[in-house]
Amino acid sequence: MKILGLESSCDETAAAVVEDGRKVLSNAIYSQIAKHRPYGGVVPEIASRNHVVKLPGIIEEALKSAGETYDSIDAIAVTYGPGLASSLLIGYSAAKTLALRLNKPLIGVNHHEGHLHSVFMKEGAPEEGDVFPLLGLLVSGGDSSLILMKGPGQYEILGRTIDDAAGEALDKAAAILNLGYPGGPVIQKTAEGGNSDAIRFPRGLDNVDRGKWIYKYDRDLCFSFSGLKTSLLTHVKNLDHEPEGDELRDIAASYQEAVADALASRVERALERFEVKSFSCAGGVSLNKVLREKLTALSEKTGIPLLLCPPSLCTDNAAMIAGAAYEKIRLGKTGEKLQDVNPNLRLTDW
Ligand code: KG4
Repeated sequence: MKILGLESSCDETAAAVVEDGRKVLSNAIYSQIAKHRPYGGVVPEIASRNHVVKLPGIIEEALKSAGETYDSIDAIAVTYGPGLASSLLIGYSAAKTLALRLNKPLIGVNHHEGHLHSVFMKEGAPEEGDVFPLLGLLVSGGDSSLILMKGPGQYEILGRTIDDAAGEALDKAAAILNLGYPGGPVIQKTAEGGNSDAIRFPRGLDNVDRGKWIYKYDRDLCFSFSGLKTSLLTHVKNLDHEPEGDELRDIAASYQEAVADALASRVERALERFEVKSFSCAGGVSLNKVLREKLTALSEKTGIPLLLCPPSLCTDNAAMIAGAAYEKIRLGKTGEKLQDVNPNLRLTDW
């Protein structure tokens, strides 16, 4: 089965054709990063206007490079949340129009489900029977969560960030250090050769005695990155100069270490507490080298296999949306007729 997927939840305009949920026949992406860079973050109005302009061409490109046509695809999949409302609506309207016009099924996909599915979309990825229950670490620009998946489409959130997402923490740090946008790649590059022990930045929620815990998740499986960002800001303000050279490298390396350590330590705790057959990491921040190294070391230590998504599918893309949609069709869980987008969509069981 060949599915045309569309993704427009934030600042990537994307379309892809995927066969049987795993084989990526095409993966066309127009990244709007350059348009948003002058503002240091995504501007919703600019994002949605660019989706309007770019989506038709990106769909054509995805079909052409897959060697498919509107007639030869079997279904249309689209991200319907979470994300920016005005951006989601562009992909949704296009997908709905195509589905009606072509008389093909329309499947709505949760963006986070797409990220979680992306780890299966590479050659040699294990079969489902071998991976569940699975512990998923989802780390993107907008979310950081630890999810226990007992099977495909079964989600139990074990912990999440109570403030900023990991990607957001990196983006904000890069802004504080005047390194540009997006922060993850530029912090990683700046950190090269730096001493990650130079500054001990906080890991968030380390101090269990402080403050009343009001969230429904276990505190030690949750993340907090806002204190880390404030700590960097204070550190930089206390310097009487703008950091550069080795000093800048050390700051970036120490900050990156704090983010990766905070993430990996929660994964380690969850692996101790829940019996799983595998664990995974997906989303834009899963591209991070230090995080990958820490998780790989954890896999070697515990003997639990680690699934990482291929670099081309870590940041936002439509292949993961088409892939996740196939799973829904395969398991007969396509849900109710898709009527609208949901910017605050949560992960729930199918
Ligand atoms: O998954 P994604 O494309 O967006 C959302 O779905 O939200 O992730 C974007 C995030 C950004 O915050 C970006 O700074 C981060 O992924 N990122 C990285 C790296 N490359 C992108 N973070 C750490 N290291 C990287 N190499």
